[in-house]
Amino acid sequence: MFLGRTGLGKTHLSLSIANVAIDKGFGVIYGSSQNFFNQIQDEAFGRKQGDTLNALLDCDLLILDDFGTEFMSTYISSAIYNIINSRILRSLPTIISTNLSLSEINSQYGERIMSRILGNYVIKQFTGKDIRQIQMLKNNT
Ligand SMILES: Nc1ncnc2c1ncn2[C@@H]1O[C@H](COP(=O)(O)OP(=O)(O)OP(=O)(O)O)[C@@H](O)[C@H]1O
Ligand SMILES: [Mg+2]
Repeated sequence: MFLGRTGLGKTHLSLSIANVAIDKGFGVIYGSSQNFFNQIQDEAFGRKQGDTLNALLDCDLLILDDFGTEFMSTYISSAIYNIINSRILRSLPTIISTNLSLSEINSQYGERIMSRILGNYVIKQFTGKDIRQIQMLKNNT
């Protein structure tokens, strides 16, 4: 789990890991939490075709970016629990990145999800300065 404020390189590192996994022949799914869970909800209620939920449950490596930006509903909350819990039980790796702090995750997602994250995920706290701002200042001088 990658925690940290904006522009510290969470997505960059996730995609670097995805590249290595793909080169080794593993199936990787990457996407933003918002897009995944909109899609999953639309499919569940027949508004779109597809089986995104099962793809996220089954892939070799799942990268859930921008966790915390999804629109929350009872259905989405249970889908999040299902994905996190099922992948842990099957020992399938998952990378979650988020701008939320651990205490915000606890209050937004509840104890059952928090307990699984703390018990099973390696927590990496990103620190430093927003690289986008550093790049912008460099380009303007
Ligand atoms: N190790 C790195 N070397 C060079 N550039 C990097 C590195 N890590 C990140 N960057 C660049 O810094 C910028 C911000 O990185 P990134 O998008 O990964 O941040 P983030 O932590 O995912 O931010 P957010 O929380 O807003 O999604 C991007 O332009 C990215 O290409
Ligand atoms: Mg990012």
